[in-house]
Amino acid sequence: MARKTSDNIDINALLGGSFLYRSPKGKTLEERYTPFNQYVDLLKLNGVYPFSRTVASTLGPEVYLSNTWADEDTPCLNFGSQDYMGMTSHPAIIQAAKDAIEEFGVTSGGTPVLGGRNTLTNKLERKLAEVLHVDQAQVFASGWSACFGAIAGLVTHKDYVVMDMLQHNSSDVAANYATEHVYKFKHNDLEDLEKKLRFCSDRVGTGGIFVLIESLYSMNSDGPDLPAVYALCKKYQAILIIDVAHDFGCMGEEGRGLLETIDMKSAKDIVVIGSFSKTLCNPGGFVAGPRVIRQQIEIFSPSYTFASSISTISCAIIYKALEIAFSDEGKEIRKNLLANIEFAIKELNKRGFYTNGIPSPFVPVLIGDSRLARLLSREILSMGLVANLIEFPAVPRNQSIIRFQMMGGMTQEQILQAVDIMHKGIIRSQELLLNAKVDAIEILPEE
Ligand SMILES: Cc1ncc(COP(=O)(O)O)c(C=O)c1O
Repeated sequence: MARKTSDNIDINALLGGSFLYRSPKGKTLEERYTPFNQYVDLLKLNGVYPFSRTVASTLGPEVYLSNTWADEDTPCLNFGSQDYMGMTSHPAIIQAAKDAIEEFGVTSGGTPVLGGRNTLTNKLERKLAEVLHVDQAQVFASGWSACFGAIAGLVTHKDYVVMDMLQHNSSDVAANYATEHVYKFKHNDLEDLEKKLRFCSDRVGTGGIFVLIESLYSMNSDGPDLPAVYALCKKYQAILIIDVAHDFGCMGEEGRGLLETIDMKSAKDIVVIGSFSKTLCNPGGFVAGPRVIRQQIEIFSPSYTFASSISTISCAIIYKALEIAFSDEGKEIRKNLLANIEFAIKELNKRGFYTNGIPSPFVPVLIGDSRLARLLSREILSMGLVANLIEFPAVPRNQSIIRFQMMGGMTQEQILQAVDIMHKGIIRSQELLLNAKVDAIEILPEE
C-alpha cells in the first residue's frame, strides 16, 4: 500500500542529528530537554523520524505496522527486524515456551546468585557450551548486559583494553567503566592492533591486556581475520574476548560463524560473548569460555550478580532455537538464508545500489548523503517497506546506509518487491532533494 508523501519538505528536518543533543544545557528538565523534543517533532512532522515504529502483528517478512499514517494498521514488507533464522513462529519453539510456563510458571524469581536459576537455566548453559565447543557458559537477560557484564566483571582498573574502533556500545561502555586504559585500533586493521598491543605491553606492568573484537560488524557486514588476531593475542599475552552476536547460529557451515575459523576445542583461553536476540528469536545473552572465568562473572559482574535472571520462558525458547539451529533443519535454513542474501545483493547491485561487506544477514546499502538517506527512509516506508536508516555517528558522516535485515523464510518475490521500492524511492528522493534547492553536502558541527 503506497501513500503519496508531501512534495514540500522543511530542509531543517534533513539536517543535524540526535548526536547534537547528547549534552543538554540548563538546570531544569524543561530547559535541558525541550530543544531535543522540538527537533524530533520537526522530524516527525516531515515524516523523517525513523525510530520506534510499532509492529501490530506476528513478526515475519511481512508485518502490519501500527497506525503509521492511516487509521488502520498498515501492511509492510519487513526488512527491519532481527530474526535472522526466521524462527519466531516456529511451532516447536512456541510449544517449548508453553511447556515451560506449565512446568515453571512465568518468572525466574531472582538474580542468578540468589534464587533465580532453575533446571532450564542449567540445561541451556550446557547446550550453549556444547555447541560453542567451550567448557561452560552463563546466560544473561539481554545481549547488552552479557557483553557489558563480561568486560565489567573480568577487567579491572589496572588492566588495558585494546578494542576495534567499531565495537558495539555494550563493549565500549563496559571498557570505559572498567579501566581508564582503553585504546581503539582501526577497524579490522591487524597492523594497528599490533601497534596498540606493543604500546600496552610496554606499560601494563602487573595488569592484563584484553582485546575486544566482534565476529561480524553489523554496520559494515565484515569481520576480522580471527586466527591472525588470536595469534597476536598469544604473542602479547593478551586475553581475547569476541562478541559473536551477529553470526552465531546463522552463519558458517555448522552455525558457529567466524568461530569456525579456529579450533575452539584447543583454544582454551578465549572468552566468547553474544546475544540470542538476533538469531535465536528471544532477548538474552551469554558469556562462555574456560571454566576459570565462571566464578569471577558470578560474583563480580554487575549485570549478572545484581540483575534478575533471564526468564524461564526465554530459557526454554532459546534452548529449542539452539537445538534447531544446530540440527539439519538449521543447516537448511542457513542455506536458504544465504541464497536470499546473495539474491538481494545481486538485485540491489543490478539497480545501481552499492552494498558493503560480505554476504551476511544484514545488507548495508550505501546511500551516502544523510539528507538523501533520510528522505529515502521516508519514501520506502510510504511504499510499504521497512528497512532501517543508519546515520552518523553509527556510521561516518555522510556515509548513511539503509540496512536490509534478512530473515529465513523470505521469498525471492518479497526481495524483488523490496528492491523495486528502493529503486523507486531513490528516484523520488533525489527529485525532492533537487527541488529543495540544497546543493552542498551538509557540514555538521563537531559534537
Ligand atoms: C555486537 C552486539 N553485541 C551486543 C548487542 C546487544 O544485544 P541485545 O540487543 O540482544 O541486547 C548488540 C545489539 O545490537 C550487538 O550488535
